[in-house]
Amino acid sequence: MARRRTDLPPTPPLPAVVQTALWVFRPIQFMHWMRAHYGDTYRVKLLAAGDVVATANPQEIRKVFTAKAEQLHAGEANVVLAPIVGDNSVLVLDEQRHLRQRRLLLPPFHGDRMRAYEVAMREITQAAVARWPRGTAFRLREESQAITMDVILRVVFGITDPDRTREFRDRMNAIEPQRWFKRFALLPIASRIPAVERRLFAGFNRAKADFDALMLEEITARRAAPDAADREDILSMLLQATDEDGNAMSDDELRDELVTLVVAGHETTATSLAWTFELMLRHPDVWQRVVDEARDPDGSGEYVDAVVKESLRMRPILPLVARVIKEPWTVDGYELKPGRVVAPNIYLAHYREATWGDPEEFRPERFIGQQPEGSVWLPFGGGIRRCIGASFALYEMRVVIQEIARKLEVSAVRQSPEKIVRRAITFAPGKDVPIEVEDVDARAGESIRDATPAAAI
Ligand code: HEM
Repeated sequence: MARRRTDLPPTPPLPAVVQTALWVFRPIQFMHWMRAHYGDTYRVKLLAAGDVVATANPQEIRKVFTAKAEQLHAGEANVVLAPIVGDNSVLVLDEQRHLRQRRLLLPPFHGDRMRAYEVAMREITQAAVARWPRGTAFRLREESQAITMDVILRVVFGITDPDRTREFRDRMNAIEPQRWFKRFALLPIASRIPAVERRLFAGFNRAKADFDALMLEEITARRAAPDAADREDILSMLLQATDEDGNAMSDDELRDELVTLVVAGHETTATSLAWTFELMLRHPDVWQRVVDEARDPDGSGEYVDAVVKESLRMRPILPLVARVIKEPWTVDGYELKPGRVVAPNIYLAHYREATWGDPEEFRPERFIGQQPEGSVWLPFGGGIRRCIGASFALYEMRVVIQEIARKLEVSAVRQSPEKIVRRAITFAPGKDVPIEVEDVDARAGESIRDATPAAAI
């Protein structure tokens, strides 16, 4: 039967409450099931977001990523984050205001700037590695969170004093999305009853007020600092940035963008690092090649980069990116009305057989010497909303992995793959990647001792 233009993409005959529960508690199985039954494009009914049309079709994804700012709104789709990141955040704005903030933020994240941040990234990893226990299992995801947090504090905020670092870290952890996200997901319902809303968010509002105060104090001090123009950190660059009318960011804008950079850049990079180790360590040939490259003074980093990209393919941290439709929009022949949501399905696009051939295989080689199109490999989203920190994250992951591979022998505690679980908005490894490490030199010493003939004892 010919498809009517008014049809909506298929959805299972289940009420929104059941679909929402499947999406929250069994997202991976739900996505594979939907694809098996309906193909690349389907509709899911979610309690908070309404009807979301998800698509893994590369042509449709390309259309979304090349749309004009007034046709599709990502900021409106991200609005659940507004209480954490603030109303001036690039994440929750659209059109002109979004463009202004994005232009102001982009220069310090340009690929050319990465070398300036490398030393800090290496030093922070070395300090973390020195603290890790030897020969005892620990959770890598928690440790990678500490590394990425310290990198943001040093490289983005320019904070080096240990006490000040601790103060920022504590206040930042207190507003972490992981801690509060479930409550914000209830906001559309809770906001109907002010007393419930006040009660639900009293703790968050206090923590956010504390954090904002600290941030404004830092911004004021840094505006007054005589060395602002010579500093390499991102906050110093943002303080001096001006838009085309010559206006700089206000304190409130700066504060919101700084929180955004922490929220968008900290847990995402930490979780990607943890997944990359989870995958590498279960593929000893891959890990050995990463180690060899890292310990080779002439190693180019090409292989580790390919490993990171392949890990982001198999374990994208965000499963989809959403856009609210502002003008009639067609997806796979279905004409959608303004107000509905279209979402490039990152996860299913990365597991598309027609694109990848063997999507279930962990094969970093597929990225060597090639960069797949943005409509088939999209861990950082795309178009005018593509992740501002993509180069930063890829660079940081390379530096951290190389540093660990140089200094340590690393082994996985578990051999079986970890389940993908939802942590707030990210897809994380269920067991936090338990590993054991030894110093490279200690192992070398051990093997020398092991080789000592018994007669010599
Ligand atoms: C592996 C780590 C990361 C992943 C997987 C990731 C992924 C993403 C994704 C999927 C989006 C949404 C894009 C879209 O809607 O099309 C996004 C947006 C964003 N990311 Fe990242 N990100 C990572 C690291 C970072 C870092 C390190 C920073 C900065 C320090 C950062 C800053 C941002 C910002 C500011 C946006 C909003 C862009 C806009 O709306 O214009 N991200 N990221």
